[in-house]
Amino acid sequence: MVEVQCEVMNNREVAGGVWNMALRSPDLAGTARPGQFCMLRVNRRLDPVLRRPFTFHRILPDREYIEILYKVVGRGTDLMTGLEPGAFVDVLGPLGNGYAIPEDARTIVTVSRGIGIAGLVALAEEARRRGVNVLALASFSNKDAVTGTELLDYFGCETALHTDDGVHGGTALVTDGLGARLAGRQVDQFYTCGSRRLAMAVYQWSAGHGIPAQVSLEQHMACGMGACMGCVVEAFTSGKRDAKAYRRVCKEGPVFWAWEVCGVA
Ligand SMILES: Cc1cc2nc3c(=O)[nH]c(=O)nc-3n(C[C@H](O)[C@H](O)[C@H](O)COP(=O)(O)OP(=O)(O)OC[C@H]3O[C@@H](n4cnc5c(N)ncnc54)[C@H](O)[C@@H]3O)c2cc1C
Ligand code: FES
Repeated sequence: MVEVQCEVMNNREVAGGVWNMALRSPDLAGTARPGQFCMLRVNRRLDPVLRRPFTFHRILPDREYIEILYKVVGRGTDLMTGLEPGAFVDVLGPLGNGYAIPEDARTIVTVSRGIGIAGLVALAEEARRRGVNVLALASFSNKDAVTGTELLDYFGCETALHTDDGVHGGTALVTDGLGARLAGRQVDQFYTCGSRRLAMAVYQWSAGHGIPAQVSLEQHMACGMGACMGCVVEAFTSGKRDAKAYRRVCKEGPVFWAWEVCGVA
C-alpha cells in the first residue's frame, strides 16, 4: 500500500451523474488487483476531512494509470467533479482483498447494480485477458444511468443489460431467467456488487447450483486500513446460523463469499 500524488489525466461525465476519472500512477497501476480499492482525498483543504473509497474501474500497468468510475452522491464526489486535468490528488492504495479468479476458471458470471459495475469491469478485463468467458449481467435504474457496458462489449464479454424502466429488459430482477440463460453451461464462479437484494438473489441461485459466489460490499469508511473499526459488518463464519463474527469491510473485504454475508454455507 502506498500514498501517492496522482495527476488527473481526465475527468468527465460519462452518464447521468456518473463520472470517470483517470489518474496517472505507475505504483497503483502496477500493483492493484480487481476488487481492491483506493482512498482518495478529494480536497487539499481537508474539507471533507475523510478520504473517500473507490474501487479500481480499470487498471492499466502498461499505460501507468488507473481509472475510477464514480457516482455523484454528496459533497466529496461533487468536489471531485471539479478536478481538472493536471491537478494532483492524494491517493492511498491499493487496499482490501479483491476478487479471486480460480486458476482453472473457464466461465464466470458478473452481476452488477448501478455503479456497482465499476469494479466488475476491472474483473471482466482481467478475466478476458486470461481467456476466461464472462457473462456480464448489468442492471440500472434507467437508460440514462447505463455506463460501463460498452467496455464489457469491447473486452468480448457476453453482456445482458437490464433497466428498471424496461427499455432493455423490464423483468423484476436482472437475475430473473438466469436458469434459462445458463442452461447447458458450466459456470465456475459468480461475482456481484451494487445491491444487497441482488447479492441475495445471486447467493440463492448459486448456492442452489453449487457454484461459489463472491460479493463486494460497500460500507462507510474512515481509515480504510483496518484501524478504526468504522466499517464492520456481521458475517457468518461457518455453516451454523449462530456462528457469526465482525468483519472489517476495508481489511477482510470488501469481497466476501456470498454465504458469509447472505446466509450459511
Ligand atoms: C470499498 C468501496 C468501494 C467503492 N467504490 C465506489 C466506486 O467505484 N464508485 C462510486 O461511485 N462509489 C464507490 N463507493 C462509494 C463511495 O465511496 C461513496 O459514494 C462516497 O464516499 C460518497 O462520498 P460523498 O462525500 O460524495 O457523499 P457523502 O456526503 O459522504 O454521502 C452522501 C450519501 O451517500 C451515502 N454514502 C456515502 N458513502 C457510502 C458508502 N460507502 N456506502 C454506502 N452509502 C454511502 C451516504 O449515506 C449519504 O446518503 C465505494 C465504497 C466502498 C466502501
Ligand atoms: S474503515 Fe477503518 S477499519 Fe475499516
